[in-house]
Amino acid sequence: MARIAGSRNQNLVLVRVTVPAVSAATTSFGIDVGGSGMKAAPVDLELGDLADDRLKIATPQPATPEAMAGVAAELVAHFGWSGPIGVAMPAVVRAGIAMSAANIDKSWIGVDADALYSEATGCEVHVVNDADAAGLAEVRYGAGADRKGVVIVLTFGTGIGSGTFVDGVLVPNTELGHLEIDGEDAERRAAAAARNRDDLSWEEWAGRVERYLQTVEKLFSPSLLIVGGGASRKAEKWLPHIDIDTEIVPAALTNEAGIVGAAIVGAMAEPLI
Ligand code: BGC
Repeated sequence: MARIAGSRNQNLVLVRVTVPAVSAATTSFGIDVGGSGMKAAPVDLELGDLADDRLKIATPQPATPEAMAGVAAELVAHFGWSGPIGVAMPAVVRAGIAMSAANIDKSWIGVDADALYSEATGCEVHVVNDADAAGLAEVRYGAGADRKGVVIVLTFGTGIGSGTFVDGVLVPNTELGHLEIDGEDAERRAAAAARNRDDLSWEEWAGRVERYLQTVEKLFSPSLLIVGGGASRKAEKWLPHIDIDTEIVPAALTNEAGIVGAAIVGAMAEPLI
């Protein structure tokens, strides 16, 4: 409360003063599950950045629900975190339930991941697809901020993930990495992993990515394409070889988009449906 002097009738007027301190509502916690590591950090949701150094623990092999929930509990304990948590997973996620499992153990399929992680950590946890998480971070804080229309964030790594947004609102689980092109699953030919597997130069690989992006362009007429994932850290090597009609830019939050996006979902009152 504060006093305002000099009001006309000379009475004292009391008003509430809001202190812009960091509260639980502006800090969340994100865990990003990858094939090799589970990375985590508290996240400042006002800045869209990590609020502490991130910690990475190797993804258990096999990456079963119980083993991964155990690692999540370790990550949370390391930071002494007790607030909301989001977990980005390489899986289709509906209402907290894993409906698929890419590069994690197939026993995840059908598991109530929200409930499992919540029980293991003692916190309220919401799970989200990894590319949806990266997309949420890009659209709120990065290359897609304030962009209208259909914005598609594509992550190139072991697979191809997609986060699709209409006027900033997520259309969850679009799975555009699995478009069938020339009778083949697109991510098998054009994921970043295919470059190593097939021993391709950056330019050769860019040719495959271009063909893929042209298909996405034809089907969705996006206003902006954002390319993320590991390959976006070397965008200068391949992006200049891509010739498409749509505006295309590299992701801005390359390393931390998954953690930041997971934290956004963790702070939501309800799971994504
Ligand atoms: C999976 C997606 C995931 C992407 C990136 C794909 O194989 O189907 O759910 O987002 O890989 O990890």
